[in-house]
Amino acid sequence: MRDRILAWLEKNVPPSRINHILGVEQMSSDLASHYHLDADKAAQAGLLHDLAKYFRPKQLLQMAIAEGIEIDPILEANLHLLHADVSAIVARDEFGVTDPEILAAIQNHTLGRPNMSELSCVVFLADTIEPGRGDTPELNQIRAISRENLYKAVWLASDYALQHLLSKHRLIHPRTIMTRNWALLRAIESQSANVETVDRDRPRDRLRA
Ligand SMILES: [Fe+2]
Ligand SMILES: [Fe+2]
Repeated sequence: MRDRILAWLEKNVPPSRINHILGVEQMSSDLASHYHLDADKAAQAGLLHDLAKYFRPKQLLQMAIAEGIEIDPILEANLHLLHADVSAIVARDEFGVTDPEILAAIQNHTLGRPNMSELSCVVFLADTIEPGRGDTPELNQIRAISRENLYKAVWLASDYALQHLLSKHRLIHPRTIMTRNWALLRAIESQSANVETVDRDRPRDRLRA
């Protein structure tokens, strides 16, 4: 299966993008292992995530409409954003992928989605921080946090994307903001849960002392 996907990618994607895709495959697998998720599923979603990256806007639109995907005004103005949804269609139709979690992770890799699964979080993050993306302090900070708190890393990766879009005066899809706010709230929840655990332990510590 992997060889067939790689052969397809060689025909449909330039070499620089294949390096990025292999980076996302590896990073997705590493992060999934780190969080005790299914590393094979993560790797497969990573390998498949950008299948439609170089499809023409018209083709993206036609395939999305045929699939019944709702085209909101921001998608309509930036049809390239549809490559995430269309990559999932190609994964299903060309490679017979039926696992809903893998297909969702491919769909969610660009804009994220509130309440997305941990597997989707991993692929979303891997797309931002795979080594080929560069070596800036901001990316290295997200790389470090990606090993500590998955939701905090998704929040910071969303901030990173938003800052880039703002600096280039580009359109922002509302789902990027919704993903960012969801991940921020989840990160705060998980941190306060940790604090409560510590607090609960404190009286016992004092008793022992
Ligand atoms: Fe992509
Ligand atoms: Fe990508």
